[in-house]
Amino acid sequence: MDKRKTFWQLIDAGEPYRLLFPLGTLLGIIGVMLWPAHVWLALAWPSEPHAGIMLQGFLSAFIIGFLGTALPRLLEVSQMRLAETALYAASLVVVCGLHLLEFTEAAHAAFLLLLLGFIGSLLHRTRQRKDIPPPGFILVAMGMLCGLFGSALLLLDGVLNNGLTVEWYLFARRLLHQGFLLLPIMGVGAFLLPRFFNLPNAQLFPESLTPPPGWLRKAAFAAACGVAVCLSFVFEVVGWSRTAFLLRAFAIVIYAIVEIPVHQARFSGGTLALSLRVALLSLPIGYLLMAILPQWQMALIHIVFITGFSLLTFTVATRVVLGHSGQEHLFNSRVLSIFFMSLLFVLAMLTRVTADWMPEIRMSHYAYASICWVVAALVWLFKIGPGLRLSSDDS
Ligand code: HEM
Repeated sequence: MDKRKTFWQLIDAGEPYRLLFPLGTLLGIIGVMLWPAHVWLALAWPSEPHAGIMLQGFLSAFIIGFLGTALPRLLEVSQMRLAETALYAASLVVVCGLHLLEFTEAAHAAFLLLLLGFIGSLLHRTRQRKDIPPPGFILVAMGMLCGLFGSALLLLDGVLNNGLTVEWYLFARRLLHQGFLLLPIMGVGAFLLPRFFNLPNAQLFPESLTPPPGWLRKAAFAAACGVAVCLSFVFEVVGWSRTAFLLRAFAIVIYAIVEIPVHQARFSGGTLALSLRVALLSLPIGYLLMAILPQWQMALIHIVFITGFSLLTFTVATRVVLGHSGQEHLFNSRVLSIFFMSLLFVLAMLTRVTADWMPEIRMSHYAYASICWVVAALVWLFKIGPGLRLSSDDS
């Protein structure tokens, strides 16, 4: 008798990423396609829906899919079931629908409910935990708080009819658009990324319900780096832009050097490790360039968004999919589709960033950059996506 689990049974067995990763990809495609729609179909300037869908749709779907799969396993608690995953998926669609219709306050309110529900569900599970999370996960908690606080402030601004001061409004945007993803990337990265480079994992501690020796020191260091990133948002909104961007780059680099000594990794030749290097380098490089040219920050932040957040998201997602579908042999191999995808993200980033320097062709370059991003995402969906239906038992 065929005992293979169906796609829905696999999701029900604690693997929400199988539904949320492809959904996130589709939401991301919608979020960037708003630019070609503006340029070629004369739709309204899509600044708000674009930012909202990319953060509260695309990236949130991957965050929830990843943490919803990994955290219950790490803590050895009950796994996420299909109904809960379907609820998150439906909520993400609602949030993005509201952004598309420019019901921005309603979108922030729906996102707040979604995030509160997800955090509440994780906290509820931690009561049965048999292990303590890795110390770097304090940054995941701080990132979640950035998402909550940023969305709540933006909601308040809308409800009060632009009632926040410019400084509070900017602070809210920085928390949601950068802190919400940057801090979890640092925290999860310290635990996950050494595996990509075959490096020892400094975040692994013996199973214990209370902090084992050395755990608190590492958690305090992670928290200090997280506070530095949040402080850099304060510096930015009070006008000390250069100091702010330098501090942000410094906090990322110091944390990475201490926790993920990528500089010690030997070049394995694997495409995933190569993509990851490009993505990890894009974060400090983006902020350093913003410190040098603060007047071009809206263009340069797309180094962080495209070759940083987007490439990192799809690279980590690839590792998750390959690892759960019996394709581990590809971890350190050359994977042409991932190479091609990474190249397209680099091209999208260069086209988006340079567009702002060329006023006559700026708009058409926004559209071309978006098309490159979409093709990269489709390469992932069609080449890696089929693994979402496979389990390790199928191989
Ligand atoms: C690839 C094609 C892309 C294009 C052409 C593009 C274009 C733009 C433009 C023109 C703005 C400025 C809007 C304004 O000033 O009114 C902007 C803002 C923004 N974009 Fe993109 N973008 C792209 C990709 C992305 C990606 C992949 C992400 C996220 C992963 C992203 C996230 C954002 C966010 C959050 C903002 C608002 C930033 C802030 O004010 O805090 N963008 N984008």
